Amino acid sequence: MSSNHLKQNFEEQLATFLERFQPEIVNRWLAIARLSPDDPYYEEIIKNGKRTVELITKYIRNQDESWIKTLTKKIASERIEANVNIGELVANINSGRSVVISVLNQSEFNRNELSKALEIINKYFNAYLYHSVTEYTNLKDSIIQDKNKFIQEMHSDRLTILGQLGASFAHEFRNPLTSIKGFLKLLEHNQAMNKEMWQHYFAIINGEMENLEKKVSQFLYLSKMRGIDDNPLPANVSDLLAYTTEVLYPRLLESMIEVKTTIEQDLMVYGVEEQLKQVILNIMINSIEELNENPVKNRLIEINGRCDGQLIVIEITNNGKLIPTHLIDRIFDPFISTKNLGTGLGLSVCKQIIEKHKGFINVRSNETKTTFVIKLPVMVDNEWKA
Ligand SMILES: Nc1ncnc2c1ncn2[C@@H]1O[C@H](COP(=O)(O)OP(=O)(O)OP(=O)(O)O)[C@@H](O)[C@H]1O
Ligand SMILES: [Mg+2]
Repeated sequence: MSSNHLKQNFEEQLATFLERFQPEIVNRWLAIARLSPDDPYYEEIIKNGKRTVELITKYIRNQDESWIKTLTKKIASERIEANVNIGELVANINSGRSVVISVLNQSEFNRNELSKALEIINKYFNAYLYHSVTEYTNLKDSIIQDKNKFIQEMHSDRLTILGQLGASFAHEFRNPLTSIKGFLKLLEHNQAMNKEMWQHYFAIINGEMENLEKKVSQFLYLSKMRGIDDNPLPANVSDLLAYTTEVLYPRLLESMIEVKTTIEQDLMVYGVEEQLKQVILNIMINSIEELNENPVKNRLIEINGRCDGQLIVIEITNNGKLIPTHLIDRIFDPFISTKNLGTGLGLSVCKQIIEKHKGFINVRSNETKTTFVIKLPVMVDNEWKA
């Protein structure tokens, strides 16, 4: 008999022996293993023990580690899922090794065969341990990486929102501040003006200051919950437009812009007055900024308000230059701006507000004029008409 044949013969004997003792090995191992009865994979662990012994016999017969890898992959992911410490996993694998060795010690194998058997078993358990720990740490690493990625994404989302909030904060504050500045300038340069006029300007400044104060609380609100203080009420379109032209009076004067207003009588909309004022103000300010680019003579803003069937239509037209197609297509998107100091939030806020009021907003532009059109549902009995 060749030595090779002898070797094969011994290996076969060892494998058969372990197969026979598989139930005893598993039971003894289960008795000493560190396992919690609450372990969600308790049943699987028993099966894994059986498979481990099966794999020893497979390994003895063909010395192939790939099966070990498949099993350790499964075990590692189960152990991680069960939130089991790596120390416990290592201890249990070593307990398995001790049980197998102790069973072998009770066998009829001679010293020589026993030492050969030990060598194979140790090799197997070393590989088993190596792959288990490697799989376990790889999996843990990838979980940590995923968590880090998630945290980073959350962080950058927060930063984006913070940036947007900061930008809109600036936007909402600049308008009242500019208006206050304008009226203060008027007061400064017209010290001789009559008391009535003086009081009138002062009232506007006061109003704008209150407006600023309201915005601060609105922003504080916004950071907690959106739209909670919205309180829609009937509003007169004429009053809304008059308010805007009055607030913008210093800027219109400074830019020498003529305003022509044509509004049907008693035109009523239903909505949050502050927000509707904001819409008209944003569009008017854009018009002023556009007309400032024009030659001084014949700078004109036309405001038109009428009822058209089920809709109230408000049109604000300026005789500025054509808005190019690439810009007009995205003009209501946030952060679209051609101005050095523009946030590009003005029109996107308008769109949001109008849509919240169940209305529409759009724009048309040609070489001689640009018109923003707002359509809001007609109000019937203090409600939106469906
Ligand atoms: N009436 C208009 N005529 C010509 N272009 C306009 C007009 N209104 C808006 N635009 C263009 O649309 C862009 C977006 O307007 P939007 O009001 O959203 O932002 P902005 O005015 O640039 O910045 P902000 O309103 O924050 O000051 C403007 O930068 C401008 O190029
Ligand atoms: Mg604007």
